Amino acid sequence: MTVHFIGAGPGAADLITVRGRDRIAACPVCLYAGSLVAPEILSWCPEGARIVDTAPLDLDAIVAEIAAAHERGQDVARLHSGDLSIWSALAEQMRRLDRLDIPYTVTPGVPAFAAAAAVLRRELTLPGVAQSVVLTRTSGRASAMPERETLAAFAATGATLALHLSIHVVGDVVAQLTPFYGAACPVAVVFRATWPDERVIAGDLASIAGQVAQAGLERTALILVGPALRPEEFRESALYAPDYDRRFRPGGAVAAEGAR
Ligand SMILES: C[S@@+](CC[C@H](N)C(=O)[O-])C[C@H]1O[C@@H](n2cnc3c(N)ncnc32)[C@H](O)[C@@H]1O
Repeated sequence: MTVHFIGAGPGAADLITVRGRDRIAACPVCLYAGSLVAPEILSWCPEGARIVDTAPLDLDAIVAEIAAAHERGQDVARLHSGDLSIWSALAEQMRRLDRLDIPYTVTPGVPAFAAAAAVLRRELTLPGVAQSVVLTRTSGRASAMPERETLAAFAATGATLALHLSIHVVGDVVAQLTPFYGAACPVAVVFRATWPDERVIAGDLASIAGQVAQAGLERTALILVGPALRPEEFRESALYAPDYDRRFRPGGAVAAEGAR
């Protein structure tokens, strides 16, 4: 028996990996993390599968579900939204399974920030503009931020910021970021990226809080901030420059054409 942790992607059912879909189809038990997992994804569970929404359960109850499946010798598909490497509560579940000697695998998923960038048709790293993306959040009821992980500290780098779990405090976010990025810095809010009710609000630090308030968006949104979102001028990357010699393209672009 194995527990398969699977990143279910940002919303649209066809944004799960092939491996994730196949594992769901092979598991007689599926535990999924509430409304952020599309119903279509659950339809891939085999006939008669036990399908449990874990949104109302605490960690003890979730582990009890897994332990019961373990007793029955049934594999479990454990679905979380987006990817598992950020804000998925994966670590605490794996720690419990380690203690119970229950084996597990981890299958990655498309994270919401990547889906939001795709919706916006933006690259978040541009030569000479931004070469880092900070995936962060603001303090919530359940998780306080570690002392040194302040928005000001991240903003001081000028990197592209992808703020999760923070749409309800967009006004505070603006106040903290404006001294670093300037009021004219582009901001995009992507609400429920890749879901049928997806919405995009594009503005700048001066306008975005008002736009969000007007739209009445309160959850499941990403706030992307940084000059890469509205690039005025940026140079092309050296990687594809005709005179750029590299290991797999010796002699530049002509050699690369010949290798096709
Ligand atoms: C608990 S975190 C889960 C993050 C997830 N593990 C990931 O890889 O993106 C939930 C937050 O992610 C963001 N999020 C998740 N799905 C989203 C989507 N489809 N569109 C926009 N933001 C989303 C929102 O900021 C939301 O409050």
